[in-house]
Amino acid sequence: MADPIFRAPKGTHDILWPESARRRALTAVFADIVEGAGYTEVVPPMFEHVEVFHRLGDATDVVRKEMYDFLDKGGRHIALRPEQTASIVRAFSEHRPTVPWKAWYEGPNFRYERAQKGRFRQFDQVGVEALGPEDAHLDAEVIALAWLFYERLGLRRVTLMLNSLGGPLDRARYVEALRGHFSSDLDALSADSRTTLAVNPLRVLDSRRPEDADLVAAAPSMLDHLSDDAAAHFERVQAALDSLGIPYMIAPRLVRGLDYYVRTTFEFVAEAFDAAQNAIGGGGRYDGLAEEMGAPATPGVGFALGVDRTLMACDAEGVFDAPTTTVDVFVVDTTGGDQALSLTDELRRAGLRADRAWDARSMKAQMRAADRSGAALAVIVGEAELESGMVALRDMRGDAGQETIHRSSVIDTLLARLQ
Ligand code: HAM
Repeated sequence: MADPIFRAPKGTHDILWPESARRRALTAVFADIVEGAGYTEVVPPMFEHVEVFHRLGDATDVVRKEMYDFLDKGGRHIALRPEQTASIVRAFSEHRPTVPWKAWYEGPNFRYERAQKGRFRQFDQVGVEALGPEDAHLDAEVIALAWLFYERLGLRRVTLMLNSLGGPLDRARYVEALRGHFSSDLDALSADSRTTLAVNPLRVLDSRRPEDADLVAAAPSMLDHLSDDAAAHFERVQAALDSLGIPYMIAPRLVRGLDYYVRTTFEFVAEAFDAAQNAIGGGGRYDGLAEEMGAPATPGVGFALGVDRTLMACDAEGVFDAPTTTVDVFVVDTTGGDQALSLTDELRRAGLRADRAWDARSMKAQMRAADRSGAALAVIVGEAELESGMVALRDMRGDAGQETIHRSSVIDTLLARLQ
């Protein structure tokens, strides 16, 4: 085994081919869908002034325990981003684009979490954020885009969990109601939940400890604490999802791990993915965040989908396979290598995906390399072909066998055969 120093740090992993190509393909599917819906890509920095992320909530685990933060050489307090909503809203506040501003993003995020299946310290997300409109149909639009994305990947066993946290006042009233409920029987709560209660009563609803189960089940429901406005907004989101034919489950206990949410919140759960970490995406409204970052009050809604977990869900459902090859043509040259040098160059210039063998190995060794490459066709040049100005073309997959063609017609023939 390699020295632990020369292994990827805990909670991280190298992504090798073909998984790397599969991730790129996944991002391409996402980009295609959201750009086609008017969202434009934003690439924020991977680190920000730590205060940007304090807006996620001082009582959240993400801020209290999981931030990768440090002082840089100029004495600035910097943090690697644990998510990208805060960065996008910071960018909105800095550049003040016209609204509606519909942005999408992809890339890595960093959280110092307990590493386990589906939970990493560096993980990729793709996501959208839409700032400006308060329209409940925008909530439905972002949900519908995530839904379409899962459909395009081929995922069938995804459940949409939907909740509303109400406006900021409703939320505060609900937190007090929860505090009252849990405080009435403190001794029945686990020690962990008593600590959580002191900092963030909402998170107690998230407890999976058996001793908390009864109190959590009897807790008041957020949906009973919605103002008329928030209730009407939530109704409109549901009506829009109904009319789009997107199924959902109302989940009054759904608590998101970040504090900026008001009104609509949602999560996508992969049913086929057998692990505690089965939330493959989540999002919601954060109408107060832009103002907290120095912009004029601007509502916002969005989501982020975990790329790593989404691909694990694809594995569990046997969909969205990794590619099996990168090249279509493999050049075998047993005359010393000059033919391989010029032929691969010509093929690549003509737009063909081509690779070759090295070190002037034997015909047998080069054919093995051609086989391993997964190429559909091999172009073979031996002494006889070189002398007669011909090349041999071998079908590596089907049973079309081998034909000899003129060297000058190789590109046209390959282009025709690979169509
Ligand atoms: P989040 O629920 O913290 O929300 O993360 C969204 C998704 O990222 C999760 O559902 C999960 O799939 C993935 N994820 C989160 N943490 C990890 C981890 N440690 N390892 C692997 N995957 C992980 C947000 O990040 C919000 N910014 C979403 C949002 C956008 N809300 C509004 N706009």
